[in-house]
Amino acid sequence: MPVLELNNVSGGYGEVDILHGVSLQIARGELVVVIGPNGAGKSTAMKAVFGLLRLSGGTINLDGEDITGMEPAQVVRKGVCYVPQTNNVFPTLSVEENLEMGAYIREDDFRPRLQEIYQIFPPLREKRKQKVGFLSGGQRQMVAMGKALMLEPRILLLDEPTAGLSPIYRNQIFDIVKEINDSGIPILMVEQNAKQSLAVADRGYVLVDGQNRTDGKGLDLLNDPEIAEMFLGG
Ligand SMILES: Nc1ncnc2c1ncn2[C@@H]1O[C@H](COP(=O)(O)OP(=O)(O)OP(=O)(O)O)[C@@H](O)[C@H]1O
Ligand SMILES: [Mg+2]
Repeated sequence: MPVLELNNVSGGYGEVDILHGVSLQIARGELVVVIGPNGAGKSTAMKAVFGLLRLSGGTINLDGEDITGMEPAQVVRKGVCYVPQTNNVFPTLSVEENLEMGAYIREDDFRPRLQEIYQIFPPLREKRKQKVGFLSGGQRQMVAMGKALMLEPRILLLDEPTAGLSPIYRNQIFDIVKEINDSGIPILMVEQNAKQSLAVADRGYVLVDGQNRTDGKGLDLLNDPEIAEMFLGG
């Protein structure tokens, strides 16, 4: 049984549907990437999972439970953690305060988890008292991911974690994403850096105009001439 499954999901903002029957599956332990042109509906598909979209059709299942139409606050309690594409940190709060915010629904002692997060992202330990607004883009992205991981998610949704980052930070973030996935957390990631993300992913989906275009193993998509022409710069 997949951890997360979107079956034929349609929906959008206001009256207009942006997604027209999108289907995605993420199995236990998988790292799945979604690529596609700007405006294809990649972020919208993630918002659908997190209860941020008006749905007009289809179903969303988490470990076999129907979570279609659940509110974000409920979805997060089910163990779905989501790092949005933008505005994913509190810039005026310190690193540590941001991480603590990520743990807000935990009723147990979150301090051991905080130490684990500092092990995954060593630069954050050094900067724990600094306001996040003063950090580099790469470190801010680490805070955003660390915040989501404070909940020990059942699945992690990452929307363009490497957007706008320098190559060095981009590589670091991809390494960390892989490491998090290797630790057993399934990940659904939207990415613009199609080549690099398909190279680390188990499987990939290509969305175009709010619909599935194709999908397959990361390496197969990487070697597909049509995909290469569309997204990988030939
Ligand atoms: N809050 C919103 N209200 C209305 N329309 C929106 C909203 N967010 C996105 N859209 C529209 O939905 C469509 C899909 O947007 P979406 O952000 O899902 O694309 P994307 O594939 O994530 O693109 P990008 O690669 O640029 O992040 C676009 O036409 C966009 O203008
Ligand atoms: Mg997007």
